[in-house]
Amino acid sequence: MKKLYGVIGDPIAHSLSPAMQNKELKELGIDAYYHPFRIEGKDLKTAVEGMKVIGVEGFNVTIPHKTAIIPFLDKIDPLAKAIGAVNTVVREGDHFVGYNTDGVGFVESLREDWKKDLNGERVLIIGAGGAAKAIYYTLLSIGVKRVDICNRTLYKAEELIAAQPYEADSKAIPLDVAETNIDKYSLVIQTTSIGMAPEIDKSPISLRGIRPSAFVSDIIYNPDQTLFLNQAAQKGAKTQNGLGMLVYQGALAFEKWTNVKPDVTRMKRTLTNILG
Ligand code: ATR
Repeated sequence: MKKLYGVIGDPIAHSLSPAMQNKELKELGIDAYYHPFRIEGKDLKTAVEGMKVIGVEGFNVTIPHKTAIIPFLDKIDPLAKAIGAVNTVVREGDHFVGYNTDGVGFVESLREDWKKDLNGERVLIIGAGGAAKAIYYTLLSIGVKRVDICNRTLYKAEELIAAQPYEADSKAIPLDVAETNIDKYSLVIQTTSIGMAPEIDKSPISLRGIRPSAFVSDIIYNPDQTLFLNQAAQKGAKTQNGLGMLVYQGALAFEKWTNVKPDVTRMKRTLTNILG
C-alpha cells in the first residue's frame, strides 16, 4: 500500500519540500506520497492524533509548529529536546518520535562544501533565533568548542549560551563587536532573515575585515547570493548559501522514514530547477 508522508505548517503553500521529496520518492521507485498540510495552531493536537490514526508514516514540521508540537509527540530525540524544536516526525512502532534535522543538515552541507575538521575552528554565529539554536547546539554536540554568538538583541544570544546542553567556551557579543573582530573567525554562519528576498540590499554586519581563508555560510537560499555572501566572496572567502542545508535536512528526514539514502545532488537539482 502507498505510504503517506507530509509537512505541516501555516502557511504551507510555498514549501519546496513536497516537490523535492516526491521527485526523490519517484526516482527511487518508492511507493509513497508526500503532501503539504496547512494546519492552524489551534488544530495541532488534533492533526497529530489524526495523522497517527490514519497511518501517516512520518512528516516534517515547519513554522509555526516546531516547538508547539513537542507535547503531542510520544518521544523526543535528545538533540531535538535540547534545541527545543522538532522538524521531523518518524513513526516508530506505535510511537511518533520527534527529531531535529536542521542543525545536522547544516553540518552535513558544511562538510560537503568545506572539507575541514570543525573541532579546532573559531566560529561566529550571527543571530539567536530558532535556526541559530539548532545550528549552535548541533555544532556543540559534535565537539566544536569555540562558538561566539552575536545578535541585535544581546540577551537572546546570552540565553542560548546559558541553556546550552554541552560544554563550550562561547561568548555572546553585540553585532558591532563581532564586526570589529571578524578577522578572528575561520567560520561565520549568518542565520538571521536579513538579506532574504525581497529585502536583498541589507546585511547584518560588514565583512570588510574577513580573512580570505575564512568560510562564510548564509542559511538564506533565496536569493542564492546575499549581499553578505557577495562581500565575503569579494574578500576571497569561500561561501555557501542555504540550499545545501535545506536539501540535507530533507535528505536526513527521507532516510529516517524510508531507510533509503536519497541522492542529495539530484534533490539539490530539483530545488534549483524550481527556484529558477
Ligand atoms: P529563525 O527561526 O528563522 O531563526 P527567528 O527565531 O525569528 O527566526 O530569529 C530571527 C533572527 O534574526 C534573530 O536573531 C533576530 O534578531 P533579534 O533577536 O534581535 O530579533 C534576527 N533579525 C531579524 N531581523 C533583524 C534585523 N532587521 N536586524 C538584526 N537582526 C534581525
